[in-house]
Amino acid sequence: MLDLAARRREFPALTTRVHGHRLAYLDSAATALRPQFVIDAITRVSTHDAGSPSRSVHALAEAATEVVDTTRREVARFLGGAPDEVIFTSGTTASLNLVAQTWARANLARNDVVIVTELEHHSNLVPWQMICAEKGAELRIAPIDDTGHLDLDRISFDRAKLVAITHVSNVTGTIAPIAELARRAHAVGAVLVVDGAQAVAHLPIDVAALGCDFYAFSAHKLYGPTGTGILWGRTSILEAMPPWQGGGGMIATVGDLTSTYREVPTRFEAGTPNVLGIAGLGAAIQFTRTFDPRADEARAHAGLVAAVHAAGGRILGEPELAVVAFELPRVHPHDIATLADGEGVALRSGHHCAAPLHRRFSALASSRVSVGCYTDDDDVAQFAHALVKIREVFP
Ligand SMILES: Cc1ncc(COP(=O)(O)O)c(C=O)c1O
Repeated sequence: MLDLAARRREFPALTTRVHGHRLAYLDSAATALRPQFVIDAITRVSTHDAGSPSRSVHALAEAATEVVDTTRREVARFLGGAPDEVIFTSGTTASLNLVAQTWARANLARNDVVIVTELEHHSNLVPWQMICAEKGAELRIAPIDDTGHLDLDRISFDRAKLVAITHVSNVTGTIAPIAELARRAHAVGAVLVVDGAQAVAHLPIDVAALGCDFYAFSAHKLYGPTGTGILWGRTSILEAMPPWQGGGGMIATVGDLTSTYREVPTRFEAGTPNVLGIAGLGAAIQFTRTFDPRADEARAHAGLVAAVHAAGGRILGEPELAVVAFELPRVHPHDIATLADGEGVALRSGHHCAAPLHRRFSALASSRVSVGCYTDDDDVAQFAHALVKIREVFP
């Protein structure tokens, strides 16, 4: 098992000097850094396994097909599902839109209800706003408490057809009770869609134990490349779903006026797949099997919380893992991010694509630090030091 120091050596980006300082990368929730193992896998496909998968039959194309097939099996094992339930997309956003544009378009009727929560990233809100407007369905927003948790007994599941929720919030860092939500959703015949973008790097995922019907995530939050993501869906549901985008690869027969479509998951993968991204995702999953970051991440997370408190900051919710979003009285989040960058600390400012959630906490924007498998005590100390410096500029 790779310990923290060994893990850090795997990430070339950590050697970057920023304004004369060592880099304290505290923005993994936006995008995680990539280890050399992932970079090498992408390079190998660019260099050697460079054909077009599932199309040409020459050796380079067969090698590319093998990359796609192997990664599909890796992802299935990672999530606890079957390979045929794994759809390659361009990211969490595309995965959630796929469910909205296929399952929801086919199954929602006027006055049906889609339930989301106050926690959602725009990617798990706007697609439901769009499809509800189109179908005349009602979008119901389940409230959270001040800690960032849902009170399930306050959610009405009346008329619900679909429930969509983030597994781990990218702002409050709270974990949603997915298994219990699945039970309640299924009791009224609704499907449960889970946005796993912030969960996959920090929690073991088992879609069977979670009981969800769809699970979406992005490779780039799991030490993989951008532009690649996954939609996992339950076979019986995928098989009843119409395709989304039409094009090469997803068809069985093409007539002049109509076509028939292939089996799942291929039916949902129109066009040449992103083989480079898929290779990187497969390598990223293999890489995460070489360590267990939970104890180190928990220590780093607690350190970040303590540093914000020591600087007199207000934390949004009571984060359990991954992220700490905060406000410093009298300091604009963009000033915090700029001054922190000057100290070599990479953090994020803004509404983190969760504007309604910021309104819920009466905040226009916030600053956010987040942990990865490489976050160490020096990163935490550098952040704490940066906050002291910021306080000197904005007392
Ligand atoms: C909770 C959550 N959902 C969805 C997304 C969207 O992911 P992507 O931009 O990779 O599609 C993010 C990215 O920040 C996120 O944090």
